Amino acid sequence: MTYRYDQIFDYPYHKLPLVLGESPYEGDRISMHIGEPTVPPPAFVQDAINQNSHLWTKYPHALGTMEYRETVATWMGQRYPSLMGKVDPVTELSACAGSKEALFLSAITAVMRKEKMLKGKKPVVMTPSPAYHVYYGAGLSAGAETIPYGLYKENNFAPDWNSFPKANLERLAIFYLCAPNNPIGSILSKENLQKAIKIARQYDFILAVDECYSELYYDEAPTGSLEAAEELGDHFKNVICYNSLSKRSGAAGLRVGFVAGDAEFMNGFAIMRGYGAPQVPTPLQAAAIALWKDEEHVEKGRAFYQGSLNALGQKIADLPGYIKPEGGFFVWFDAGNNKGDELARKIWKEQGMQVLPGSIMSQKDPITGKLPGANYIRLAAIYEPDKMSEVGRRLRTSVLG
Ligand SMILES: Cc1ncc(COP(=O)(O)O)c(C=O)c1O
Repeated sequence: MTYRYDQIFDYPYHKLPLVLGESPYEGDRISMHIGEPTVPPPAFVQDAINQNSHLWTKYPHALGTMEYRETVATWMGQRYPSLMGKVDPVTELSACAGSKEALFLSAITAVMRKEKMLKGKKPVVMTPSPAYHVYYGAGLSAGAETIPYGLYKENNFAPDWNSFPKANLERLAIFYLCAPNNPIGSILSKENLQKAIKIARQYDFILAVDECYSELYYDEAPTGSLEAAEELGDHFKNVICYNSLSKRSGAAGLRVGFVAGDAEFMNGFAIMRGYGAPQVPTPLQAAAIALWKDEEHVEKGRAFYQGSLNALGQKIADLPGYIKPEGGFFVWFDAGNNKGDELARKIWKEQGMQVLPGSIMSQKDPITGKLPGANYIRLAAIYEPDKMSEVGRRLRTSVLG
């Protein structure tokens, strides 16, 4: 007997050893598959936690302290100037224990919202492919028909709205987008974001934009989805964004983030949060406030990842499979037609480097019949430049050898 949860058990890291197998490599092995920051948060985080240790006995508020929410609303206004004074910290913003749980809970909330309009028809959740696996698991867990959509180089890794059946858009409860994108490293243009917002409003679904890599960019700071919505008019209608300190501040273990946007959706989300989500401990919110107020450490982190990406790029930029990332800390390398798994295995066996085959971050695209990540491997550029040069050298040897 299989259950619905069996369909989502295939977590990418469970699949990895099955695809890669064993490696006879005897030298230094390098892990390039994990998407974890390596630049630690500044020391003042610990001071803030210590100064607020008297609050460990208190149950935290489900949506975060007012000070936390006001701090985030101010940060949003500084980062996206057209949002200054525009995000209501009471009705449009909540703390969350990292963006993961908010992304997950949003599918359940959005499905409950859409059910009311569909009068018995099954709601749809659409999730990018390749993608961070949580969106797909969220759609299935919410009991929705969960439909992946492919992201392809030919379309600049943006959704191809014209290819989606109208009948699916009409049942759509929530559509996930990730920008800057994990695993691709692409950024969505303001025009693409606004196109998505207009369609979300036309069909009345929630556009859920995962912006947790928003501060890791290398040329231009990416447009925010709420900024794009505000510019269109109708304020944040149908749009929700997610962010956290995990990548921005290298504080993945702190588990603090925020979700913000459409007040009507946020009302439902707040109800669901009160029941099913972990509150963020108040001393950790205090530490998070200090991090949202400081940009110096963020600039240092960005410069570090830029240095890692540059060092890798210098070794492999002339290879036809190289795609220069615009944001995030991953390189999405094109191994050729359906060759991602094969190259990942080759690199592991010959060079002792574990990279993530794009296939295991993908779900089959029902429109093209393809596994959109099957041509690719993902490398995390999270090490010092010397080590990244070595990574580039090993990758090059396997690609050309
Ligand atoms: C695309 C994407 N979204 C969300 C998350 C979740 O991050 P957190 O819950 O730490 O904010 C991750 C973590 O790796 C991610 O890669």
